[in-house]
Amino acid sequence: MSKEYVSKTSKSKALYERAKKVLPAGVSYGIRYFEPYPFYTAKAKGSKLYDVDGNEYIDFWLGHTALILGHSPPAVVEAVKRQLENGTHYGTSHELEIKLAEQVVKMVSSAEMVRFTNSGTEANMYATRLARAYTGRSKIAKFEGGWHGGYDALHVGVHYPFNAPESGGLTAGALQDTLLLPFNDLEGVEEKLKHEKVASIVIEPVLGAGGGIPAEKEFLKGLREFCDEKEILLIFDEVITGFRLAPGGAQENYGVAPDITVFGKILGGGFPVGAFCGSRKIMQRLDAHVYKPPRYSFHGGTFTANPITMTAGLATLRILEDGRLINKLNTLGDRMREKLREIFETNGVNVQVTGTGSIFNVHFTKEKLKDARGVSRADKKRLIDYNLHLITNGVFFLPTHTGALSTAHSEADMEKMLSETEEYAKHHRK
Ligand SMILES: Cc1ncc(COP(=O)(O)O)c(C=O)c1O
Repeated sequence: MSKEYVSKTSKSKALYERAKKVLPAGVSYGIRYFEPYPFYTAKAKGSKLYDVDGNEYIDFWLGHTALILGHSPPAVVEAVKRQLENGTHYGTSHELEIKLAEQVVKMVSSAEMVRFTNSGTEANMYATRLARAYTGRSKIAKFEGGWHGGYDALHVGVHYPFNAPESGGLTAGALQDTLLLPFNDLEGVEEKLKHEKVASIVIEPVLGAGGGIPAEKEFLKGLREFCDEKEILLIFDEVITGFRLAPGGAQENYGVAPDITVFGKILGGGFPVGAFCGSRKIMQRLDAHVYKPPRYSFHGGTFTANPITMTAGLATLRILEDGRLINKLNTLGDRMREKLREIFETNGVNVQVTGTGSIFNVHFTKEKLKDARGVSRADKKRLIDYNLHLITNGVFFLPTHTGALSTAHSEADMEKMLSETEEYAKHHRK
């Protein structure tokens, strides 16, 4: 498979050789590297990526799942073009940040106030700080397999065996206050926190990087009750699920309200973004007129609420607001998962198709999956082989990562993805 990929991507190979000299691993984010080398994108439009060799890929990675309307959707491009004439970055207060905050508050029932950041990582960092300032507690908890970005205190317990720091350079001091919890296991959570006082529990309602595993409804409800009882702030990291599973995010679907929600990806309409939001009572800790340290919690940054991002985000959320397109995507997601299961089953290949709504992933295992531990036992090599087959045949998933649907995907795009999967399954029966 690799040979065929190499034969179609000679210009990418040359760029990779060049890139390696100036970018560690030849990439700007480690996960974007895949064997034998990544292709380099020349342009993107709608549901497609085009590489420097002229190969076309139907894109199910969608810029880390951010592009729910596909690449360069006309309504967003038009709005951004107009805004470019009015300034790219102000560094002062402006109406667009109010409009986007109002839009988030309108769509997300647990949000009364919002602060914007430039990434999901930053938003999680500031949300954690806020929870600590609000509760006066130092310890925090996250789940095994949960990915919240590269912030030190949350950069632990992402990959099996979940007990080692995910990077060098993380000090014992940065990690000693972070506790790890078992996903979809309320008794396990209660046991772990029996004698602890934590400021917050952060959870992805659907594990994204952890394999596309949805939290069980009863588990999330139980977690909410547990947090209420112990006066712990429940943080939903909706960086992937926000504005994707429902206009109001996963919390709308589950009927469970967090204290703080973290957003990113879709909220930026294709531009860099993050945000955290919650009730006025909690968010007011960010107001230095009301609180002084240690009760005050700082947040800020040069590019926060950049007017281009605010414009693109606003155009995007207005399109998604009535839920019509999101519902359509969720139905397509159900169909995609069902068809994938059918194809692999017919060909006698053991897989678990995970995900919910317009998020999906495939794992080569017989075992029913309810957490990232199960995912870690699946055959990753086969998944990479399947993903590379798809890439070589014009269907892009970032190998091993969760795929997503956009409103730009056509029937023909879906059919191509399924027929290439069938081709793979037929030739890889085991
Ligand atoms: C659930 C979740 N939280 C946080 C992040 C970090 O966001 P960013 O990459 O914008 O820093 C990601 C990124 O993939 C994510 O999937």
